[in-house]
Amino acid sequence: MCGIVGYIGGQQAAPLLLEGLTRLEHRGYDSAGVAVLGSTGIKVAKRAGRVRQLTEELPKRFAGRAGIGHTRWATHGPANDVNAHPHVDAKGEVAVVHNGIIDNAAALRHRLADQGIDLASDTDTEVLAHLVAGSGADTLEGKVRDALSAIEGTYGVAVMHADFPDRIVVARNGSPLIIGVGDKEMHVASDLAALVRYTTTIAYLDDGEMATLTAGGFTTYRQDLTSTNKTATTVDIDPASYDAGDHDSFMHKEMVEQPAAAERVLRGRLDERFGTAHLGGLNMDARETRAIRRVKILGCGSAYYVGQMGAALLEELARIPADAEAASEFRYRNPIIEPDTLYVAVSQSGETIDTLLAVQEVRRKGGRVIGLVNVVGSAIARECDGGIYLHAGPEVAVASTKALTNMFLGFALLALQLGRVRDLSIADGKRLIAGLQRLPGQLEEMLGREDELAGIATSLAAAESLFFVGRVRGFPVAREGAQKFKEISYRHAEAYQTSELKHGPLALISESVPTVAIVPGDELTDRNVGALHEIAARRGPLVVVTHADVDLGDVEAVRIDVPRNERELDPILLTVPLQLLAYHAALTLGHDIDKPRNLAKSVTVE
Ligand code: F6R
Repeated sequence: MCGIVGYIGGQQAAPLLLEGLTRLEHRGYDSAGVAVLGSTGIKVAKRAGRVRQLTEELPKRFAGRAGIGHTRWATHGPANDVNAHPHVDAKGEVAVVHNGIIDNAAALRHRLADQGIDLASDTDTEVLAHLVAGSGADTLEGKVRDALSAIEGTYGVAVMHADFPDRIVVARNGSPLIIGVGDKEMHVASDLAALVRYTTTIAYLDDGEMATLTAGGFTTYRQDLTSTNKTATTVDIDPASYDAGDHDSFMHKEMVEQPAAAERVLRGRLDERFGTAHLGGLNMDARETRAIRRVKILGCGSAYYVGQMGAALLEELARIPADAEAASEFRYRNPIIEPDTLYVAVSQSGETIDTLLAVQEVRRKGGRVIGLVNVVGSAIARECDGGIYLHAGPEVAVASTKALTNMFLGFALLALQLGRVRDLSIADGKRLIAGLQRLPGQLEEMLGREDELAGIATSLAAAESLFFVGRVRGFPVAREGAQKFKEISYRHAEAYQTSELKHGPLALISESVPTVAIVPGDELTDRNVGALHEIAARRGPLVVVTHADVDLGDVEAVRIDVPRNERELDPILLTVPLQLLAYHAALTLGHDIDKPRNLAKSVTVE
């Protein structure tokens, strides 16, 4: 959410900053801006809209070998030119870009106004520029430290000052910042995506840490300005994974990557001989895993829905009571933290603030938390006692697909390992391993039917409102399907338990309200088919996501037959066609697939 880039070195900064911002646009895309520091001081160009528009309208004279840039997802104040970052002080000598939220911004704005300072924008960030300018410290580091000590909230921040042209000072508290080391030049960004084209030698800042970047190198220190001596390391990442290549969108690329991503999360973790999984990163021995009495899964949005699928896997395979809860709600009900409960935080980005705060709440009360996280070294990964990395590769599209599939597989591995130190038989363990090994091929098969699904999606896109329904294992699938559909097609898509339709929502069924029903071939098929009859009787159009051997009787419906795996693993195969339906509906409606309105990748504000 919001992206930061910075550069200092021998090249003109503006083109590098704009290229970096393009790479970060998925983090926020309502406005963008850059500031450069050249021989005539600081120049700023910023505007509402996309980075492309900013690039097209950049002034001809915009020279400077140091610069900072930002792409915004509005929190304080609407998306307009004035509220876009960078923000400057009254004299235009200080420029600031900021991710996060300054909680005491209103009080600080009043204080600055009392001092006769006119604030140009509605943003919380602008106060930082004035605070830096107003500090009496004689170094930029001291000025930034003074400004930060006045604010409460979260930040990743980069600051330039016309009186200190040889440096950029950056600081982190709750919002990531990564330093990239080049040859006599330094970069900084809030996400690796903006750095990998230039360097893979990087250093992650920790919360509470600051850094000074000069063309020759960087130094890190705490806010009391004592050194933290951080050094850079090389990350093993292929810059091509941040390119959409031949695909029209990252979402499409990432859906297609699912079979390969699934193979990666399983690789080296399946033990065929003992019918179990090996998850070294859990940091728990067999005795500790046996002592777990309950599992509580915490995540947000799609990660929460896949958490519900994970809870079902844990209950079925390990027979441990398990449930999932929205991390955004958990912390606010003063939850009881039990010593024999295993808390599982699930997050693609590892940055989602609600999930991070939930983890901190559990740990503060002495609970044990493991993470199912995609981004290595991210805040949530670092905060947990152990975990399972998802190895999905970078996920750029706002709509999560391959990371979600790997979250499901991460839960399957966890359930297998916990199950096999309890009552899951070796035969069942081996059955599930065989199912997991078949899964990448079945994902491939499902993705190969894209054309068929595109046709179905076009008819769904015409509806203003839809239901997605499922029961028990199928209900989180329906929730995730509705989530994906609404977030990129902007159609009203409501998920419901099939069994609950007759207790109210059937009143809404009509020929203009289609229902996408999840009807796997399992012990509930007959009941599900009964509900389909009720929908059909009210002339509701039906799309049924099912298995080829399921008999729908005389129900009039469009069928999507999904390859069958073991019943416990079926939910993820039932989910993939829903991704394709959402994608093709959005495409039909002409929406920007990777940048859906009002959303941004990684929600780093509460
Ligand atoms: C939906 C989506 C969001 C995220 C949610 C959690 O497609 O992407 O609902 O799942 O914001 O994000 P992470 O997994 O990064 O914690």
